[in-house]
Amino acid sequence: MKNRGVTILGIETSCDDTCISVVRFKDKKFQILSNIVSSQVKLHAKYGGVYPFLAKREHKKNLALVFKKAMEGIKNIDKIAVTVGPGLEPCLWTGINFAESLSLKLKKEIIPVNHIEAHILSNFINKEIPLPAIALIVSGGHTELILVKKIGQYKILGETRDDAAGECFDKVARILKLPYPGGPNIAKEAEIARKMNYKSDISLPRPMIKSDDYDFSFSGLKTAVLYLVMKSGKLNKKERACFARETEQSIIDVLIKKTLRAARDFKVKSVLLGGGVSANKELRKQFEQRIKEEFKELKFFVPEPYLSTDNAVMTAVSAFFSKNKGLKLEAKGNLRLN
Ligand code: KG4
Ligand code: ZN
Repeated sequence: MKNRGVTILGIETSCDDTCISVVRFKDKKFQILSNIVSSQVKLHAKYGGVYPFLAKREHKKNLALVFKKAMEGIKNIDKIAVTVGPGLEPCLWTGINFAESLSLKLKKEIIPVNHIEAHILSNFINKEIPLPAIALIVSGGHTELILVKKIGQYKILGETRDDAAGECFDKVARILKLPYPGGPNIAKEAEIARKMNYKSDISLPRPMIKSDDYDFSFSGLKTAVLYLVMKSGKLNKKERACFARETEQSIIDVLIKKTLRAARDFKVKSVLLGGGVSANKELRKQFEQRIKEEFKELKFFVPEPYLSTDNAVMTAVSAFFSKNKGLKLEAKGNLRLN
């Protein structure tokens, strides 16, 4: 009989992107057959952030079309994977309901997926990763440091006590009057400041960098920027770029310091990044440099940028690895890894 492998359709609607992807696992390799991301960035940019009910309405509107595009040229799927949390509950439900109607129509099993685990597992696509590992998942909603003992066996070591790292990028961008989403726009400005070698005496705090745990806090950083910007009045282009560079560097310093401390403490073999903020070029570069300089044996992995931000490839891939972990087919906004 011909080996067709296993083909999984992934659905991801936990935040503001409507994502559907088809992934095949055949001959011990993943093949991404399709990967559609319908971004709502333009819509939410008007408001400077994500509005759950607006996002839900858009998911509802987009899902059928995104599905059609993702299935172009694909005849069969074997299973359906869908994100059930964490995320915005109204948005998660639209994905789950869509998965259920597909499952009835196609008579295929549904596998519920944890969004944070999916971000971790986006590193495992056609790569051998020495375990245990420390995973840093940084996005608009999450900043978590996780010990990955094995695939499916996790321990959360620390997390943010207030704002997520991506949320801090987004909020500081708003203060600097840069468009939403803030991360990529701050990165662009910061790059200008570095390229032009702008001199500046702006100095921002590195919150909790010395604390004796693996937690984070980013809301004070945003407040510090707000205070300094208010004090200096209207910013010119150069000042704005300098604020962006210093904000980005402060976030990078804290993330690297705590992650590498955890890597040392738990004597792990790899460090993995994931989530939208891990698309940040400077963060990737500095992580790589520091690991090379300070840790001989430690391996560093980060997904391609298009797999760092939200996507449904990671949802499908997560379902391949999934052992029945008792996840229910219901939206859980604050779902935890266990
Ligand atoms: O993982 P993601 O796509 O969605 C969530 O689950 O939140 O992450 C989105 C977040 C946003 O806060 C965005 O500003 C940030 O990731 N982000 C970046 C970059 N690209 C996206 N932050 C810094 N640098 C980037 N290049
Ligand atoms: Zn995410």
